[in-house]
This record gives sequence, structure tokens and C-alpha cells, in this order.
Amino acid sequence: MSTFDAKLLVGEKYKLQNITTTCTTILSLFLLYFVGNAIYNIYFHPLSKYPGPYLAAASRLPNAWYLIRGTNVRRACYLHDKYGPVVRVGPNELSYTNAQGWKDIYGHRVGGKSAIGKWRTFYRNPGDEVDSIFTGSDEVHTKARRMFSHAFSEKALKEQEPLFQKYVNLLVAKLNQAIQSEGGHDRAFNMVDMYNFTTFDVMGDLTFGEPLHLLDNSSYTPWVSDMFNGVKALTIIRVTRYFPLLESILNRCIPRSLEEKRLSHFKYTVDRVNRRLATKSTKPDIWTLVLRHQVDASRLSLEEMHANASIFMIGGTETTATLLSGLTFHLLKNPLVLTKLTREIRDAFTRDEDITIEALTRLEYLNACIEEGLRMYPPVPIGMPRCTPPEGATICGKFVPGGTVVYMSHYATYYSAANFTSPKSFIPERWTGDLRFANDNKFAFQPFSYGPRNCLGKNMAYHEMRLILSKILFNFDLQLCEESEGWTNQECWTLWEKHPLMVKLTAVGKAL
Ligand code: HEM
Repeated sequence: MSTFDAKLLVGEKYKLQNITTTCTTILSLFLLYFVGNAIYNIYFHPLSKYPGPYLAAASRLPNAWYLIRGTNVRRACYLHDKYGPVVRVGPNELSYTNAQGWKDIYGHRVGGKSAIGKWRTFYRNPGDEVDSIFTGSDEVHTKARRMFSHAFSEKALKEQEPLFQKYVNLLVAKLNQAIQSEGGHDRAFNMVDMYNFTTFDVMGDLTFGEPLHLLDNSSYTPWVSDMFNGVKALTIIRVTRYFPLLESILNRCIPRSLEEKRLSHFKYTVDRVNRRLATKSTKPDIWTLVLRHQVDASRLSLEEMHANASIFMIGGTETTATLLSGLTFHLLKNPLVLTKLTREIRDAFTRDEDITIEALTRLEYLNACIEEGLRMYPPVPIGMPRCTPPEGATICGKFVPGGTVVYMSHYATYYSAANFTSPKSFIPERWTGDLRFANDNKFAFQPFSYGPRNCLGKNMAYHEMRLILSKILFNFDLQLCEESEGWTNQECWTLWEKHPLMVKLTAVGKAL
């Protein structure tokens, strides 16, 4: 080896040593920062007195892990059972099951605004940058809520009843046709799909002025399937926002095609809304009822209409179908309840045409079953996060510093033995004044949330759920198929990841 080669080798070795030292220093610093931060979070952070697991107090990683795996909702339940009505689930995140939390976190402040604002890291727009009723600031929200409440009022719902009836009758007709086409008296259906087809067709007609024809074709369109996949993907992408460095790296890695897909999905809504607005229709869909009240001072821009239409299609479809699926499952697992409910419906009506949304409000047991279904299987099972203002807030009698993420965890609240007697049992009688449940804390139950930003579609959802379930039970006898016995064993990515719910339907009076 020449002297020159030897010098080169020593130089390379020196360089390698330098790189190793730099890497070790960076890693040590990172580790030191991580450990220091964890110690601070556990022992010195303003939330250090709140109960919860040490690991969750130390870092956001455990929470992120459960969110990505879809087990976050059940974990919240476990943590509340172990630590009580308030749990520190992340370094600056508190989950509550104490009913007072509804008022303190989501309740009214002076001027009709929310007590504590929405956590913007969680709430992002479906399309472009224009805010919707769901994502907007208090000002944006107040204007949108005022305008859209015309389309979701009791008066509006009465006008819209023929539209609801049309699709529910189509559902019954399609089920009957499918049964007959096989020449028998019964047939197994995936009721998750059948309920989704119905609620999407209803909402499509109300939002776009035309149905999506899911019931007609008995299948999802790619646009609807993409919407389901989008909610799951968004939950996982949202986790990266907890870690700003990771977010910026991942943002660079997300394929352009995914972003294009998101925008083309939103463009479908834009095109449909534009097409509807160009028709000057007078049927009582959302736009007819909103445009009737458009005055200059509160005029919604076209972009605001697009953004909100997108929210209605997400929030007003899957949620209602989810409750119906969950309730159907629980009814089938509790035959005595199913028999009692079926009897109530069949005794109240002799003809299908008599089943109206007004008449259904009077069926006490039906309403109790729906409440119990919402409690056992809330369509929004997670906590909808708010962020305390810089000056902090008092929640459930204790000061919470500014910048803390806080929420009521729906599922954990409804399964808490501190709120409900026998919380894991499906017993609709708890909603009919049965003395066994006199100590239930009914106020803890807020499946549509509470305060100025509660669900705008609550009344519509109740009417729709009553109508669909009643017409199904009026026309068919139901039996759970074996493969769906453990149906509620599901993951949750913001919304439940529902497996097929296979149910054998027999046309009434046709049983062998
Ligand atoms: C069983 C069915 C439903 C359940 C359980 C449900 C639940 C909820 C919940 C928990 C919220 C509060 C979200 C938050 O705090 O971020 C909400 C908001 C909302 N829901 Fe529903 N929802 C249902 C059906 C509907 C329907 C049929 C519509 C009709 C379009 C609808 C439209 C909305 C809208 C627009 C908001 C935002 C309201 C605002 O911020 O003022 N929902 N819903």
C-alpha cells in the first residue's frame, strides 16, 4: 500500500468516526429530550394531578397506537373503569364520563357560543378551505346553523315526509322482491348495507335533489365506498398531526393520487349541488328550504353550500344506518324485547300507509328501544374534542389549564356503572320509568352531543330511525344468522367499522 493510499484510509476512518459520533450525540440528545419531557409530563405538568396511566401522561404515543389500531374506544372504557370519571389519556388530553362535563365542555356561553372551542387539529374541511357548520369558528357556525335550521326543523320534516316514506317503502319493496326472486319465503340480507342504501338515498335526494340509486341497484357507488374508506384513512392521517415532525415527513410521502382522489370526491358534491341549484326545484329539499330564507345579511356563499353539503352527506347517512344496524343486532339478541316491540308496532297499525312519522312518536316502547340502542351502540362512540382557551376553564369543579384537549367519551360514558345500572345489558325499560333504573343518570346520555354545536339532524334522525325500523318489523320477522353472532366485536376509526350484519327476513304471514 502506498503512503498516499494509507493517508486516504486514515482520512476515511476519521470521517466515519465523526459521523458515528455525531449520530450518537444526536440520538443521546433526542433520548435525553424524550426522557426529560416524559419526566416533566408525568411529575411537573399542570395536568400531573389528574389520574391516568404513566405512559399516557408521558407521551402521545400510546394514544396514537390505540387510535391507529381502532381500539381507542374500548381502551377509554377500560381506563375510566380503572381511574374514574376523568382520565388523563395523553400529556395534554383529558377524557370525561362525568355528566357535568356535557355542560362544562359543550354547554352555552353568553351570546350562544360554545363554552370551549373545537380542537382544530381534529376538525378539518372535507374539500377546499371554506369552513362548514361542522368545522367553522363560532361566527361561521352561528350563521350556517341559523340558515340550515330551516331545513331541519319539525315543520320542514313534516314537508319532507313523503320523501322519507318513498325510500322506506322502496326498501321494503326491494327486500320483498329479493325474497320472492328466490322463490322462498325468507332470505338472508346484510342489514348494514340495506340500512345504508336507504339513508344514503334519502340524504342524496335532500342534498343533491336526486337519489344515489343505491336501493335501486342494491350496491354502493364508488363515491359512497370512498367516503367510508376516507373516514378511516382520515383517522389514521389525523394521528400524525399529533407529531408535527412526523406529519411534515408523511405529508411529503402521501401519494399525489390520494390527494387528487380527495379533491375529486369533493368535486362530485360540488357538481351535484350546482346541478341541483340550477334546476329551480320546489320540492322541500335542503336548498328549497334554505333559499326561501336567504336574505342578503345572512346569505350563504356557493362555496359554503358545497362545504356544508359534504358534511350532510357524511353526518346524515352512516350515523343513522349505524344505529339501525346496532339496534337490530341487540333486538335479535334479546328475543323478549323484540317480541314486545314487534307487538307494539303491529298492534298500533293495520296498514303500512298508516305508519307515519307523527303516529310513531307515540309508540313508547319503540322510542325506549331507540334510546337503548343509542346507549349500547352510539353511532359516534368517541369523544368529540374541544380545546380549552388560553385562560383555562373549570370542568367538573376542577381547573383545567389552557390548551388542554378535553371531551366526553360517548361509549365509555354510556357503559359507566357510575351513570347506569347494569350498563352492559340491553334493557329498554330503563327509559320507560322502570324503578330498577331510578338511579340512572339520564343526563349523562347525549348521543347527539349537547349545547350550541349539538347535532343539527337530531329530529330528522329520530323520525328516520323510527320509520325504517317500524316498517321492517311490520313487514318481516327477523332472525340473526349464525355468522353475525359476535357482530359488535368491532374496531372503531372515528366511526364503527361495521362487519356485515346477516339477518334472515321472513315476509310476515309467509312463515312456514
Ligand atoms: C343517529 C344519528 C346521528 C347521531 C348519533 C349524530 C351525532 C352527532 C354528534 C355527536 C354531533 C356533534 C359533533 C361534534 O361535537 O363535533 C353531531 C353534529 C352534527 N350532525 Fe349529527 N348525528 C346523527 C344524525 C345526523 C343527521 C341525520 C344529520 C343530517 C344532516 C346530522 C347532521 C349533523 C350536523 C350538520 C352536525 C354539526 C352541527 C353543528 O355543529 O351545529 N346528523 N351529530
